Amino acid sequence: MNFKLKIWRQANAKSPGKLVDHDVRDISPNTSFLEMLDIVNEQLIGRGEQPVAFDSDCREGICGTCSLTINGEAHGPDHPGAVCELYMRKFSDGATITIEPFRVGAFPIVKDLVIDRAALDRIVQAGGFISARAGSAPEANSILIPKHNADLAMEAAACIGCGACAAGCPNGSAMLFTSAKVSHLSFLPQGDPERDRRVLNMVRVMDAEGFGNCTNTYECEAVCPAKISASFIAKMNREYARAVLQRSAVE
Ligand code: SF4
Ligand code: FES
Repeated sequence: MNFKLKIWRQANAKSPGKLVDHDVRDISPNTSFLEMLDIVNEQLIGRGEQPVAFDSDCREGICGTCSLTINGEAHGPDHPGAVCELYMRKFSDGATITIEPFRVGAFPIVKDLVIDRAALDRIVQAGGFISARAGSAPEANSILIPKHNADLAMEAAACIGCGACAAGCPNGSAMLFTSAKVSHLSFLPQGDPERDRRVLNMVRVMDAEGFGNCTNTYECEAVCPAKISASFIAKMNREYARAVLQRSAVE
C-alpha cells in the first residue's frame, strides 16, 4: 500500500510548527501505524534528515503514551483502540493521512508529535491514591466487596491515562479521565476514608491545569481506547456534590 502522509513537524515548544508531506510506498496492510512511522523514520535517517518524534512504549494498548490525532480523530479511525493497535489495512490504498499531536491547551507540544501530559499526573497526585499502609496481601475474602461495585471499580481502573478524552472533547475537558480515577477508588472500601478530599482536590487541580468543562458531547467516550463510560462523569459529579455538602455540614 502507498500513502501520502502529512505529518506535524515542530522543533520545540516555542517554534512554529507545520504539516510536512512524506510519501511512503510498499507498506504491508498488516503493518501497524507505529511501525509505518518507524519505516518513515528509517527513510528520513537514511537521507540524513531528522526523524519524526513520537511517543510509544508498550505498543499493545496498555501504557497510554501513543497519543496521535489521525485525520482529525484522537487515536485514529479504529475505535475503541489506541494508535498502537491501529493497522494500515484500516486505510485505503493511496490515502492521504494527516498526523498531528493531541491538540489540548493543557498538553504543550514538546517536539513534533510528542506532548507533555504531566497535567494528568498532577491530577492523580492530588488524590488518586489511598494513604493507608498496604502491608502484605490480605486474605481475599477478608474485605467483602459487592460484585457490582468490584466490576465498576475494574471498569474505571481500565483508564490508561492517554488523554484522548481531552483531545477528542471540543472543550478540551479531562472529565472522563478524572472521573475514572475518582470513581475507581470511590467504589471500594479502601477508598472511603479519603473520599471527599480526593474528589475535591482532583477537580480543583483539573480546573487549575486549564482543562475545559464537560458539556455532554460524549466525544470523550467515543475516542476512549479503554471504553470508559461517560456515566463515570455523572458518578464524579455526585461524589463532588456529596463532598461539598459534607464539608458545609462540618463548617
Ligand atoms: S478515560 Fe479513556 S481516553 Fe481518557 S485518559 Fe482514560 S483511557 Fe484515555
Ligand atoms: S504504546 Fe502503549 S498504549 Fe499505545
